Amino acid sequence: MTSLVMSDAAVAYANLVEVAAAEESCGLSVRVVPGAPEESGLWRRVRPAALDGGDMCAAKMPLGSMGLEAAEAQLVYDWIAAGAPE
Ligand code: HEM
Repeated sequence: MTSLVMSDAAVAYANLVEVAAAEESCGLSVRVVPGAPEESGLWRRVRPAALDGGDMCAAKMPLGSMGLEAAEAQLVYDWIAAGAPE
């Protein structure tokens, strides 16, 4: 299992893209699937709770929040959709 260390951009990238989640959540087992936000655990964790259709299914990140603010979340979505380039 790979700890989700995000101490700097290179370390975060290495621990996120095509890396297995610590445990499955929301039916997803990979942190970032390039090109597929909806299959990426990271997106499910940080997208605004309002987009969850009433089924949050996993703790929102940052922990204790309701997900990222919409514009910030969109950046994450667009990055994954673009193939999660390094
Ligand atoms: C923007 C900042 C953050 C991001 C992007 C993030 C991302 C994630 C992701 C993707 C997971 C799923 C675990 C995995 O894939 O293996 C996770 C789980 C977790 N994170 Fe975060 N996280 C953030 C901030 C935090 C903070 C600030 C805390 C604690 C103060 C925290 C505590 C946890 C815990 C306890 C879990 C496991 C939760 C569970 O049982 O569902 N995270 N985080």
